Amino acid sequence: MKTLKIALSIIIYTMTQGVYAQNAADKKMNLFIDNLMRRMTLEEKIGQLNLDAGFGIAIDAPGQDIVGRIKLGLVGATGAGGFTFIKQMQDAAMQSRLKIPLLFGRDVIHGYATTFPIPLALSCTWDMSLIEQSARIAATEATAEGVSWTYSPMVDIARDPRWGRIAEGAGEDPWLGAQVAKAMIKGYQGDDLSKPNTLLACVKHFALYGAVEGGRDYNTTDMSRVVMYNDYLPPYKAASEAGAGSFMSSFNLIDRIPATANKWLLTDLLRNEWGFKGFVVTDYNSITEIENHGLGDLKEASAMALKAGTDMDMGAGGFINTLKQSVSEGKVTQKEINLACRRVLETKYKIGLFNDPYLRLDEKRLKTDLLTKENLNAARDIARHSLVLLKNDKNVLPLKKTGTIAVIGPLANTKGDLLGTWTSTRETGNVVSVLQGIKNVAGSAATVEYAKGAYVTEDDSLKKYMDGPLAVNETETETRSPDALLEEALQTAGNANVIVAVLGEVAGMSGEAGSRSLIDIPDSQRNLLKALVKTGKPVVLVLINGRPLALSQENEIATAMLEAWAPGVEGGNAIADVLFGDYNPSAKLTTSFPRNVGQIPIYYNHLNTGRPYVEGKERFVTSYIDVPNCPLFPFGYGLSYTKFEYSAITLNKKELKGDDILSASVTVTNTGKVAGEEVVQLYLNDPVASISRPVKELKGYQKILLQPGESKVVQFNISTELLKFYNSKLEYDWEPGEFNFFIGTSSAEVKAARFTWNK
Ligand code: BGC
Repeated sequence: MKTLKIALSIIIYTMTQGVYAQNAADKKMNLFIDNLMRRMTLEEKIGQLNLDAGFGIAIDAPGQDIVGRIKLGLVGATGAGGFTFIKQMQDAAMQSRLKIPLLFGRDVIHGYATTFPIPLALSCTWDMSLIEQSARIAATEATAEGVSWTYSPMVDIARDPRWGRIAEGAGEDPWLGAQVAKAMIKGYQGDDLSKPNTLLACVKHFALYGAVEGGRDYNTTDMSRVVMYNDYLPPYKAASEAGAGSFMSSFNLIDRIPATANKWLLTDLLRNEWGFKGFVVTDYNSITEIENHGLGDLKEASAMALKAGTDMDMGAGGFINTLKQSVSEGKVTQKEINLACRRVLETKYKIGLFNDPYLRLDEKRLKTDLLTKENLNAARDIARHSLVLLKNDKNVLPLKKTGTIAVIGPLANTKGDLLGTWTSTRETGNVVSVLQGIKNVAGSAATVEYAKGAYVTEDDSLKKYMDGPLAVNETETETRSPDALLEEALQTAGNANVIVAVLGEVAGMSGEAGSRSLIDIPDSQRNLLKALVKTGKPVVLVLINGRPLALSQENEIATAMLEAWAPGVEGGNAIADVLFGDYNPSAKLTTSFPRNVGQIPIYYNHLNTGRPYVEGKERFVTSYIDVPNCPLFPFGYGLSYTKFEYSAITLNKKELKGDDILSASVTVTNTGKVAGEEVVQLYLNDPVASISRPVKELKGYQKILLQPGESKVVQFNISTELLKFYNSKLEYDWEPGEFNFFIGTSSAEVKAARFTWNK
């Protein structure tokens, strides 16, 4: 008893000390900022709210030089345009009257110099430590070059693969999305944002951007609060709770009010309900766009945005050019400007800029910390974990490292396309193409031959957009006719024992402004695949793309399919590691793959209709009469080179009460011949509730490694916390009753159990 008392007093003492220390630090910061703000003019305060996102041209005041404007204190942050640029801008800030350092923001989305797989691919690893590691490396590299702020993570839930930006997020599931958001923030921000290798995160796009109608980019969203709270908001909320330093408002409308000017969103929800303490920046030029949404001109829009809770204007020049006048007209108050300015200054303080404005600009680190061997190894390893094996007939994979392998396709020998959307440095020099990777890993006993086989597309309307502004596509230098390309490919294939076809999308075909109304592989490539299959040789289809594609036709004819996404700088090596079995694939899809575009939106955690689908009784229960109800590949799906068998679920009890804990376990056995990792997934369903609840919702998972023949008991401990949801009054609680419970290898292949939980 005595020891317990002593232990308790120590814990309480340490906790109080922590709180005191925090209070003291806050007090010091507040004093510093009070003192600084007392000396600032209104113009200088508004200057802090101005993100001049151009790299050297003043976009807030066309024709004027940005350095001069920084010296006048009219700029609070700029785009991070490289070491020399950043140095020059910070030098200018140090010559301003109050010497307030600038923030330097950049889209460091999936790596900096070392490019990792696109975020959608990263989420397919279901490995939060790898995701965190990718963000940590990105932060270390970017900060060496002076970047202090990344416009990442993007945590928008996306259920529509037509939307090009599905590439930038973690897929369709709110629970998994929340885990990924937390991992990325931890990776970027570390434990102490004042350290030189930490990067301020910016959670985007707040909110609901992923739900744009029809997957059309920049489009409207419209949904009920119940759907928002349960299905779309959890990752943003988790990010706020994880201590994200900033949020970016989205382009879209919410309840017909642009997010950037939406007080309910930015103040009532984000700050008052969730307790977010950082600052909010707009998306690029959003304030100007409010005019197109029909809510007023730039001056009105700027006032509306500030009043709603926006603190910083990215690129519109709305705040810097109109707020002063709005103050004089009484349309906004000095108090509102002070509040926003304080939030920006607090952030600069917390990330150590007032101590050392050049903290994150380190010439020495720039030479030693980028693209290191360890970083490239990590990129290879993380990429291997993100490749999803979709099909493997006759166990054609893994390939043997002997014989002749024909590597064919317009994406087999390209580099920029493996980096995908948002490549920070746009450097392709280090990228390992699929062809090169196969050569590297195959060894000398195998012969590897290559032919391009087809153009990425022959469709002129698509060709126009292939050079995405945010991606590096290869410049097309090919001049031969499509027939000549095909002929060469067939000749190459003729000599081979196996064909690896590398097809899909170039980087510019997904990402921002990269939505597609059809999500098929372009015809030119599909025809190539058909011709290759006709040779009768096994065809392994390696897919490079930024979104789920409609692969029904390919699935019919290809012997094997590996979803490789845009796998990053080490992509070719990672793909080859999987193709040859040096790494046994373990990734699982985080978005459903529709059979065709007409099935969209299709997602696993849907509600039941009043006539749920029953096999064999199709007529009145089927969604469409021309395509099955289910997707081609469901959420959570992904094959391995081994097989895992699941036992039935064992529960510690079937009737629970209040604070009880339910322990549910399955035994998973590796019944194959090679070691493999399996993502054991846990889903719940609340069949009777006050509102209709999804047929299944992911609530946990465990990733395990099993040797051949090995079994492991996988146990999940469940409290009522996992049963909670937002009811129609938006209260977050659980409701007693019966629950269904599933554990399995994908959302569609599970073992089921049932239990009762009473209050
Ligand atoms: C995108 C954001 C990005 C910003 C800055 C916008 O067009 O929507 O995701 O962070 O540009 O580059």
